[in-house]
Amino acid sequence: MAPDERYLLDNRQTEAGARFDALSELFDPSTFRHFDVLGVAPGWRVWEVGAGGPSVPRWLADRVGPTGRVLATDLDTSWLSGDTALEVRRHDIGADPLPVPAGSFDLVHARLVLVHVADREQALRTMIHALRPGGVLLLEDADPALQPLLCPEESGPEQELANRLRRGFRELLASRGADLSYGRKLPRLLREAGLTDVTADAYFPITSPACAVLEAATVRQVSASLLANGLATEEELARHLDAVEAGRLDLATSPMISCWGRRPAE
Ligand SMILES: C[S@@+](CC[C@H](N)C(=O)[O-])C[C@H]1O[C@@H](n2cnc3c(N)ncnc32)[C@H](O)[C@@H]1O
Repeated sequence: MAPDERYLLDNRQTEAGARFDALSELFDPSTFRHFDVLGVAPGWRVWEVGAGGPSVPRWLADRVGPTGRVLATDLDTSWLSGDTALEVRRHDIGADPLPVPAGSFDLVHARLVLVHVADREQALRTMIHALRPGGVLLLEDADPALQPLLCPEESGPEQELANRLRRGFRELLASRGADLSYGRKLPRLLREAGLTDVTADAYFPITSPACAVLEAATVRQVSASLLANGLATEEELARHLDAVEAGRLDLATSPMISCWGRRPAE
């Protein structure tokens, strides 16, 4: 497969909205629990990196209130709209300079972003520079290699096909530079970057209606690439989508590893 570092799941495709809604349903409760543990409160200044859809930056804007500040950035901001409580800007975390003065934020958060960024080291440096001394970085990233199965119980041909198509999808992600075992590296990377109090945990649903919504939208979004690379046939994709949409499969996601650490106070 020819190397191609563009983001595979382009936000301009219509399925992106369904994917963001499903990600929100699956992972927002866990993300918001982490924000609570970290003490996000009125007046905090927060940078939401690679925001995608509106649910996380909106929750943050409500929590920090009028005395706080939320900046939401993404390569493609078409699913975000700004207002007085929420500033939206286009920004490439792997390539662009810091969009604010260094040391501006109490919290920087990115979920399911770094795994897709070609220059992850640069992205991590940029996010850490954005933190004030004592500020917190919360990174949440998938680790598909830790739990690679779409159907953890491979109980029949439909589950076997689902897991085979998932392997094809991961090949596409890897060919775009995604690191499929990135989540597990976060604690070491944050410690090596000089953050303190580094802590991590993991979460993933074993089955949920939102997993089926996410899978159907993802397969539709990458079907042309799966076909072009010989990773699926039209008939297999149709059969898989039928099983997913009929609710015949118990679909899981990759583990989401949440890791946080604090920039040392000066
Ligand atoms: C899988 S989506 C996750 C969206 C959202 N953070 C969530 O968890 O629901 C990945 C998002 O990262 C954005 N993204 C990918 N590469 C990026 C980059 N280099 N800089 C900024 N955003 C990027 C994509 O445009 C997309 O909105």
